[in-house]
Amino acid sequence: MFVLEIKDLTYTYGGGTPFEKTAVDHVNVGVEKGEFLGIIGHTGSGKSTLIQTLNGLLRPTSGTVLLNGKDIWAEPKKIRAVRFQVGMVFQYPEHQLFEETVLKDICFGPSNMGLDQKQCEERARRAAEFVGLPDELLGKSPFELSGGQKRRAAIAGVIAMEPEVLILDEPTAGLDPQGRDMLLSQISDYRTKKGNTVLLVSHSMEDIARCADRVLVMNEGKAVMLDTAGEVFARGRELERMGLRVPQITGIMLDLMEKGYPVHPVLTVDRAVGELLPLLRKGGDRP
Ligand SMILES: Nc1ncnc2c1ncn2[C@@H]1O[C@H](COP(=O)(O)OP(=O)(O)OP(=O)(O)O)[C@@H](O)[C@H]1O
Ligand SMILES: [Mg+2]
Repeated sequence: MFVLEIKDLTYTYGGGTPFEKTAVDHVNVGVEKGEFLGIIGHTGSGKSTLIQTLNGLLRPTSGTVLLNGKDIWAEPKKIRAVRFQVGMVFQYPEHQLFEETVLKDICFGPSNMGLDQKQCEERARRAAEFVGLPDELLGKSPFELSGGQKRRAAIAGVIAMEPEVLILDEPTAGLDPQGRDMLLSQISDYRTKKGNTVLLVSHSMEDIARCADRVLVMNEGKAVMLDTAGEVFARGRELERMGLRVPQITGIMLDLMEKGYPVHPVLTVDRAVGELLPLLRKGGDRP
């Protein structure tokens, strides 16, 4: 069962003007309930535009978005409800923190949904726990937090709405490697515990390889691949032609395959070690 279904979706900016630009071009994608879908693509390939059509921030020029089988624009007046069901974390979301305290900031979304203060705070505390924000920070001003903590607070604000689908646009951008790893595991854990659907846009193939069940590759507004991470990265040379780079370890394995070694384009160093050790024991003879 698809939670989201994107049907023949096209989005054009500035239609009818000299600046007309088709950012998303006849895209068809079905997102399974509970899956973790990674979205990659060169800069300008239409990733951000596509995801903004999924919660009704942008209305498609043509085509439809079905949420649990229902066209999200069937009743335009109810589009606000869709934004609570499909939660969106923008790039650099910490720029949108503005309340006096972190707790109030995280409560902003749920209170917009009409929940009372007690319910909002319960949700906010649970969301803060999911993203690893300690309780003692909740009473502070968002401006007293570190960069990574601000990012977490902003993500918690969306999680606190308990959206059925969580969409994140480059959530690890600008974080140090440790911060990236931690945030990604927290997002993965959140998905596992809640059974929710997660869509994650990233420039980092390593991040995508680590978390995603399937990967959607966008190129010049078109959805050009949609498959498991393993199958997508095995097409490393095609990805390179679109200006994308496979994870470093996968690139090494692809080089070895091209040289005739009997290995596979695996995604992790552990798996690569598993394939390379037996070859080394044999003396590395080519087949
Ligand atoms: N508000 C806008 N007005 C006009 N054109 C836009 C607008 N936003 C994006 N575009 C154009 O639409 C195309 C797709 O942009 P989009 O931001 O969706 O790409 P992206 O894949 O998210 O890129 P990035 O990786 O840099 O975030 C680009 O050519 C971009 O210049
Ligand atoms: Mg973008």
